Amino acid sequence: MRLIVQGGTVVTAGSVALADVLIEDGRILALAATGSELSRSFGATADRVVDASDRYVLPGGIDVHTHMEMPFGGTFSADTFETGTRAAIWGGTTTVVDFAMQTRGGSLHEGLEAWQRKAEGRCAGDYGFHMILSDVNDSSLREMDQLVEEGITSFKLFMAYPGVFYSTDGQILQAMQRAAGNGALIQMHAENGIAIDQLVAQALERGEVAPRFHESTRPAILEGEATHRAVELARVAGASLYIVHLSAAEALAEVVDARDRGQSVFAETCPQYLFLSAADLAREGFEGAKFVCSPPLRSQADQEALWRGLLTDDLAVVATDHCPFCFKEQKELGRDDFSKIPNGLPGVEHRMDLIYQGVAAGRIGLGRWVEVTSTAPAKMFGLYPQKGSLDPGADADIVIYDPTARTTLSASTHHMAVDYSCYEGMEISGSVETVLLRGSVVLERGQYVGRPGDGRFVARGLCQYAR
Ligand code: URP
Ligand code: ZN
Ligand code: ZN
Repeated sequence: MRLIVQGGTVVTAGSVALADVLIEDGRILALAATGSELSRSFGATADRVVDASDRYVLPGGIDVHTHMEMPFGGTFSADTFETGTRAAIWGGTTTVVDFAMQTRGGSLHEGLEAWQRKAEGRCAGDYGFHMILSDVNDSSLREMDQLVEEGITSFKLFMAYPGVFYSTDGQILQAMQRAAGNGALIQMHAENGIAIDQLVAQALERGEVAPRFHESTRPAILEGEATHRAVELARVAGASLYIVHLSAAEALAEVVDARDRGQSVFAETCPQYLFLSAADLAREGFEGAKFVCSPPLRSQADQEALWRGLLTDDLAVVATDHCPFCFKEQKELGRDDFSKIPNGLPGVEHRMDLIYQGVAAGRIGLGRWVEVTSTAPAKMFGLYPQKGSLDPGADADIVIYDPTARTTLSASTHHMAVDYSCYEGMEISGSVETVLLRGSVVLERGQYVGRPGDGRFVARGLCQYAR
């Protein structure tokens, strides 16, 4: 099967050029100057020509932080692997890396198999897994080595949620030491959960039950403190560290310090921390519940610091932490007590578009947009150059993007299985038009033409930035 994406502006992390993309059997064969002899001769024998004139042509987006069907607070996140990965395709994301979860008392493999069963045969795009370590013990530490061999090369630990996912500093150190030996990347949810639980109990005692108290009981200082502790534990262990969903300037400063010292420390932020703020949590009535996630939304000054971090590469990746809960029935669980509102926001469909607003506003360049949403996630999580690249030999995961389109984000038009949008009514520039997954068109001029099961599991290698 031969296909040519013709006449577009090819945007990669490193270059912007008018070129045709020649695809054979699901992989990139070559990039050729539009109208060149090579392109003409290939086009003459192609089974299909996809016109990309006046469009950007990018490597497919890679969202390395999603939670499909994740159990949390007595319920499950609302997107299944089928609905969530399909929404991702609409938004130009062709690969997700979701978090399989070890249950307390269970093994890592039991958790991984449970997540494999949920995903297999259902995904619209390719998928891999990280593993959440919620029970660090001798046996799970040994299993980490096996998982690395099986393509699960990153492990998330929690300094938050005592009694649920929380690990002690000692357990974190042990997991980091193991990762230093087997090459895995440790991902950290860096919030001081022990202190936060005290603040939450004190707030509830004062009758402070509304969603806005979710922010005041999870102050940025405690995200900064936990980030500092995680960095120091990684330093002692000699491990690489990746801070997930970084939201606060205080935490970013710790990452910058570590990187300036030469430590192998990386961080991701999410669109919600760049575009939304604590003011959204304080919306009237119970509306703020729609914006409850952890770490919480912060201030406009934090947003500015995060945009700067993206520019300087102290923030390497933008992922969504997609963890949707419906307003009715799920967020409602916390109507009388903010601490019972399931934590998490929908976002997998809008990451490419939202970060493109940073390009449109002149905050980051076109190449950096592709880098933080596709190439850097691929390198960070051992998917490069199969993913995140348009080099010959790479999977032909391609997004054709119309930079001139104008759309309005809304729950009435999005494809995620959730009854609200955090960005309701927001007008944006640019739109995903056509998407190819390994050379097959799965979204054609805005129409989904793929099927559940198009996506395949991807075993990942080691982090390509780690030292
Ligand atoms: O609020 C959030 N972030 N929910 C998802 C779970 C996590 O901590 O990533
Ligand atoms: Zn987390
Ligand atoms: Zn998460």
